[in-house]
Amino acid sequence: MKNMRMDMLSRLEGRQPEMSLPREFYVDPDYFQIDLDEIWYREWLFAGHECEVAKHGSYFTLDVGAYSVIVTRARDGRIRALHNSCRHRGSRVCTAAKGTAARLVCPYHQWTYELDGRLMFARDMGPGFKTEQYGLKPVHCETVGGYVFICLADEAPDFETFRAAALPYMAPHHLGRTKVACETTIIEKGNWKLVWENNRECYHCSANHPELCRTFPERPTLTGIDGADSDPEIQAHWQRCEAAGLPSRFEISGDGQYRTMRVPLLRDTTSFTLTGKPAVRRPLGGIATERIGSMLLYHYPTTWNHLLGDHATTFRVLPLGPKETQVTTKWLVHEEAVEGGDYDVTELTHVWNQTNDQDRRIVEENQRGINSPAYEPGPYAPDHESGVVQFVDWYCNALAPRLKGSGVRLSCVA
Ligand code: FES
Ligand SMILES: [Fe+2]
Repeated sequence: MKNMRMDMLSRLEGRQPEMSLPREFYVDPDYFQIDLDEIWYREWLFAGHECEVAKHGSYFTLDVGAYSVIVTRARDGRIRALHNSCRHRGSRVCTAAKGTAARLVCPYHQWTYELDGRLMFARDMGPGFKTEQYGLKPVHCETVGGYVFICLADEAPDFETFRAAALPYMAPHHLGRTKVACETTIIEKGNWKLVWENNRECYHCSANHPELCRTFPERPTLTGIDGADSDPEIQAHWQRCEAAGLPSRFEISGDGQYRTMRVPLLRDTTSFTLTGKPAVRRPLGGIATERIGSMLLYHYPTTWNHLLGDHATTFRVLPLGPKETQVTTKWLVHEEAVEGGDYDVTELTHVWNQTNDQDRRIVEENQRGINSPAYEPGPYAPDHESGVVQFVDWYCNALAPRLKGSGVRLSCVA
């Protein structure tokens, strides 16, 4: 693996800026393992929503590479993340994707854990056995604006800067007081970076997303990195929203890992429906006005989001293999909104269900073409794909110093 790290570093250093990556980054199992070790096992990752562990005893699980993680809310009300690996002989303790439990009981020999991870009971382990030494191992866990983030690293990177930047944009939507109206998980047979590259541009939208394009503008000033400041429609939108108390301007972190911005939808549309009208009659929390467009938030490598006035659509990306990625979509509505009365699930989910499936096919064709030895890196479009360049630069800048084991930045990327 040491040689593979050197191989990867030399390809990173030799890559052409503003071009897609060399083939190995999208197909090679060793490169994928390095992505897991150096990105996925080190960064903060979006796990799920606070409303999914609304009551004590509720939990959900997720897999990140080889790790299995439980997110619980214990009796003290705190949300925690725990390694889903029993301290007896290592069995997974929670086998379901979600559930409720008074305690976490390992199915193998019934070691029984508190929801905060403490081992409470282990049958016939002898007189010298100390339960306090065998709690489930903790995983770093933070919450912000209704989102639960975890980090698998021994030492987690700073979270507070992200919290301070994102919370003012998230807070008006009151996502802590929502429920998941619908959830889908799809498998895209493509590398996780292809899923992101596709997400970070709308160059492909007009030809592929007829439903989304009824409401979402495909202009590069929305998806890209430059230009929002000089787009008069976006400027007017920011002024209108900020006058209504909603932070809206384009903000991006210094390292490019996350961005927030409120963008207008097309014409007088307000939500991602075929009519452009709200899908949910009961608006989210503190949103007093309809035409607020979408608050776009991404946080690499796990999540992009659309926070609207009437609902929020959130996306979680998890890598399954060098050519396989899981994408989970959740539609959040006001916790008291009534299905069949305030919203219709089919109407609520139609546009993004269609869009997700269209994106899945795009990503899978992209992967198939890259599998060919004839593939070579190609140029990104300067305006339309500046968001893709930004994602790829973030990835390379995050990875290269870790491969070198130092803080040195690559010279070919800004
Ligand atoms: S492995 Fe969990 S109780 Fe034995
Ligand atoms: Fe798309």
